[in-house]
Amino acid sequence: KRKIAVMTSGGDSPGMNGAVRAVVRSTIALGHEAYCIYEGYEGLVKGGDLIKRMAWEDVRGWLSEGGTLIGTARCAEFRERPGRLAAAKNLVLNGIDGLIVCGGDGSLTGADLFRQEWTGLLEELVETEELTPDQVAPFKTLNIAGLVGSIDNDMSSTDATIGAYSSLARICQAVDYIDMTAASHQRAFVIEVMGRHCGWLAVMSGVSTGADYIFIPEKPPPEGWETQMCDTISRHRKLGKRKTIVIVAEGAIDRNLNAITSNYVMEVLVKRLKLDTRVTCLGHVQRGGTAVAYDRMLSTLQGVEAVKAIVKAKPEDPSPMIAITENKITRKPLVEAVEMTKGVARAIKSKDFAQAMHLRDAEFDE
Ligand code: F6P
Repeated sequence: KRKIAVMTSGGDSPGMNGAVRAVVRSTIALGHEAYCIYEGYEGLVKGGDLIKRMAWEDVRGWLSEGGTLIGTARCAEFRERPGRLAAAKNLVLNGIDGLIVCGGDGSLTGADLFRQEWTGLLEELVETEELTPDQVAPFKTLNIAGLVGSIDNDMSSTDATIGAYSSLARICQAVDYIDMTAASHQRAFVIEVMGRHCGWLAVMSGVSTGADYIFIPEKPPPEGWETQMCDTISRHRKLGKRKTIVIVAEGAIDRNLNAITSNYVMEVLVKRLKLDTRVTCLGHVQRGGTAVAYDRMLSTLQGVEAVKAIVKAKPEDPSPMIAITENKITRKPLVEAVEMTKGVARAIKSKDFAQAMHLRDAEFDE
């Protein structure tokens, strides 16, 4: 009988509860014991009440709940070795040797590092007499599986992260609302959306709402974009459009890596086109709220797959990240996926935008 724990880490995203529910229930259904680690890595480091055995009924009704009911945190202690030593001790004391982490790339990197250090951590715990050799003997390896929970849809090797479609739906709904007031006054709205260094939410919400112009980090606009943007918007206005919507990803930059801010875009629209313009920064409404059907389905299927991956894992297997590729639930090597994701940020920093788009599975088309 295995003891398998699940935790959520980093920014919450709609669907995380569905993932926890699926992990807990499939662990129990396969005849093992399920645990939840509360408050992300903080719970792992602190232990005690923050590590709880879960029963089937403990996760009843969780599928439709937003946020994460087991809490999350961005934990500084776990980034240091003493924090990871405390975490290893807590897992051993609770008999847990399978850990499923639902979070973004930082959280999943932390999990894999923990796995790689596992033997050394246990040796140190024995040397310092925190644990006895008998206590650590049954814990040869720690099995890790990653579920990608993030509204940003910024992880390479998977088509969708848990929460991205819910956030997209929320953004589209907000833009639809803004559309009505914009058209009434013939106004322009510059709408800032989340996504960190990823433009997926901006592009997809722009396409889904028929926005006039979109700014994303991976593909900065050409030099002199102000003229191009204004020409495009004027053309749309001449075709009879009564409103203007510009979507700006929070990480939008120009080709010299300077931020393109919503306020600057507004200034351009006011000065050059004399449009009555407002800025709306959607903020955390994009992250809260219930999960759309797609995220409920994705988190459930991926949660089940994560448990199967842990139960069947061989010591030499690389830690898997549970992905979705062309509509199939798949397993990808976690370390490679995280490396590719970091590659996008590196490519942007070195102004290799074609490479950034390539790593995002898109082509750079002037
Ligand atoms: O990664 C999710 C995300 O919502 C990003 O889109 C955003 O940049 C960031 O988290 C905001 O973080 P916080 O909630 O800590 O302000």
